[in-house]
Amino acid sequence: MILTATDENLRKAADILIRGGTVAFPTETVYGLGASALDAEAVARVFEAKERPRFDPLIVHIASKESITALAEKIDPGASLLADALWPGPLTIVVPKRRIVPDIVTAGLCTVALRMPAHPVARKLIAMAGIPVAAPSANPFGFLSPTTARHVEKQLGGRVDLILDGGPCSVGVESTIIAFTGNVPRLLRPGGLPLEDIEAIIGPVERGGGETVEAPGQLSGHYSPRTPVVIIDGVYGAAGENAAYLAFRSAPEKGTFRMVEVLSPTGNLREAAARFFSALHKLDESGADVILAETLPEEGLGRALMDRLRRASQKSP
Ligand code: TXA
Ligand code: MG
Repeated sequence: MILTATDENLRKAADILIRGGTVAFPTETVYGLGASALDAEAVARVFEAKERPRFDPLIVHIASKESITALAEKIDPGASLLADALWPGPLTIVVPKRRIVPDIVTAGLCTVALRMPAHPVARKLIAMAGIPVAAPSANPFGFLSPTTARHVEKQLGGRVDLILDGGPCSVGVESTIIAFTGNVPRLLRPGGLPLEDIEAIIGPVERGGGETVEAPGQLSGHYSPRTPVVIIDGVYGAAGENAAYLAFRSAPEKGTFRMVEVLSPTGNLREAAARFFSALHKLDESGADVILAETLPEEGLGRALMDRLRRASQKSP
């Protein structure tokens, strides 16, 4: 059931969370599928709805910075600096957890991922419920992330207690995840907050988690439409294919395509990010056999977009 995020419906949603149910809600990045982060059974419902493997931990969403100390055992000074400067916003920090956080939330890890979202609906919901809310993106495991309530309905309708509609997400790509668990801060997932902004505050951040799957969102084949994705660099020559096309600035001059989506005519990466998953959802529904995607500049938000495109294109058939 989709309900507009009025105060009355927010109250209903908060009550569902308090009673151990699941609520899909908007954040500025993507829609999340939330449950009480302190209730292992409620969190289990989120894993079931998404068919998400239990080894993949969830991000815990909070409404105020005071909640950090309730959930985290220790806060690195760098993590504090980032939270002060960039929260609320599309940033997740991974820090040592307290025992109050159930193991199912963190997949047995001794760390917890925390984020204070900026979307007013998300913040009101968490504040009204009065509990931290564990929420992965509201899509089946491995598939395209939702940036509208309709995307959630299409992919998970019937599997969640309530979907709150707060309009399309303004950032459009998941939060940037930084781990403060070693000697230096590490980037676990590029996302909606450009790395440049983070490094301007805490200095160099280690890139690339190597081969270890510390953030399973980093698995190849993630963020995938059902239709195969092929990344193209330069002009696409072959014709006669039933292809859809994801362009950065302008539609391709040559070739006939089943559908074309242009991310940002002015070449603005923020605009491109905000349209990214919606465009992929549309192309995926177009009936094409393949989605051809242009490369994007790998700076600012472009880093996160290329990360998602690469993973989508690595999906095994
Ligand atoms: O923008 C976002 O982050 C959205 C919205 C809803 O907040 N959420 C989101 O959640 O993208 P999800 O579950 O799709 O991705 C969370 C990522 C996963 O790759 C997970 O492995 C990683 O965060 N993660 C969670 N807890 C972690 C931990 N303790 N250590 C390392 N990675 C962790
Ligand atoms: Mg996800």
